[in-house]
Amino acid sequence: MSTNNLFQPFQLKSLNIKNRIVMAPMTRAFSPNGIPGANVAEYYKRRAEGQVGLILSEGTVIDRPSSNAHPGVPHFYGTEALNGWKHVIDAVHAAGGAMAPQIWHQGIQPNHPSGWLPSAPFEGPSGILAPEGTNGKALTEEDIADIVRAFAQAAADAKRLGFETVELHGAHGYLIDQFFYALTNKRTDKYGGNTIGERTRFAAEVIKEVRKAVGEDYPIIIRLSQFKPTEYNHKLAATPAEMEAWLTPMVDAGVDIFHCSQRRFWEPEFEGDDLNFAGWAKKLTGKATITVGSIGLSGDFMGAFQGESSSPSSLDELLRRFDRGDFDLVAVGRPLLADPAWVVKIKEERNGELKGFSKEALATLI
Ligand SMILES: Cc1cc2nc3c(=O)[nH]c(=O)nc-3n(C[C@H](O)[C@H](O)[C@H](O)COP(=O)(O)O)c2cc1C
Repeated sequence: MSTNNLFQPFQLKSLNIKNRIVMAPMTRAFSPNGIPGANVAEYYKRRAEGQVGLILSEGTVIDRPSSNAHPGVPHFYGTEALNGWKHVIDAVHAAGGAMAPQIWHQGIQPNHPSGWLPSAPFEGPSGILAPEGTNGKALTEEDIADIVRAFAQAAADAKRLGFETVELHGAHGYLIDQFFYALTNKRTDKYGGNTIGERTRFAAEVIKEVRKAVGEDYPIIIRLSQFKPTEYNHKLAATPAEMEAWLTPMVDAGVDIFHCSQRRFWEPEFEGDDLNFAGWAKKLTGKATITVGSIGLSGDFMGAFQGESSSPSSLDELLRRFDRGDFDLVAVGRPLLADPAWVVKIKEERNGELKGFSKEALATLI
């Protein structure tokens, strides 16, 4: 099938990108003391030179003492880290690219195997480390207000530094997702509740404050996942009606693009229809969506964390769904981690030169 449609430009508010291919956010932990250096700028610049439409950075944490559970993850606060990010976005722009930081608070996490710990206890809706146990403190309402402020400050800084848009990390069991997930949100105040709609209040407050900080014309992306790292088959929304109850408060708060994280983009979200998560999110909200998950690869990314390799695979099923209008943008992770020229090779149909993914790619910033 032709990939032509993937190479049509995309425009939304102030965002103009040259094609529909997005680099998925991928933590690399190559930023000592949270400061992205010249090697990180060069890494992203290579993806801009390689014609990626929109680069999403690795998760980069907000200004809270325990927003980060891993050494080497970049900060998105403090003069030195923000200067580092300024070099990144300038390098990406020099190569004709567009980029968003993925703004992150990791919430309650297990301790890092190295023994490294943040300067304050981990913090989350109820202090719960899924699937069982605790590791940190339950947030007070004052803490929540400060976290909301810190997300908004990071978004304001992204705009000030020149990033084209900003992505909020609301997926994969991290802080925002810990509020969505009934197992980790046992709160009895306005941030808790029995329904997914009630547990969306925190995300909606973050989006509202971010919107105030960046203005109306600056697009806001939020990344969401039904699955949790500890429960791959979990559905926050078990039906389309529940999905609508989940997403609508975020639309009302001002989100522009839903980035719908799946391990395998071809898996239908609900029985009786082949639409995937991004397809349903677009259908239910009318907002632009990004799909992701094993595009152009034989194996999924959770396997990659166990050291599995993946070989290149056909894009036909992706193109069938894209051409049908299910989603607006497609995010590609491991192929772009391993090969900055992946987009160019796809465009020029140099399929024999595609590299796939092997764990060795994680060891350096290729
Ligand atoms: C090494 C690695 C690091 C990742 N880090 C993040 C991250 O910081 N934020 C995030 O939202 N997803 C993260 N992911 C998930 C990817 O963004 C993506 O959703 C996943 O790899 C599936 O896409 P793929 O099959 O094209 O690799 C990571 C994935 C990998 C392989």
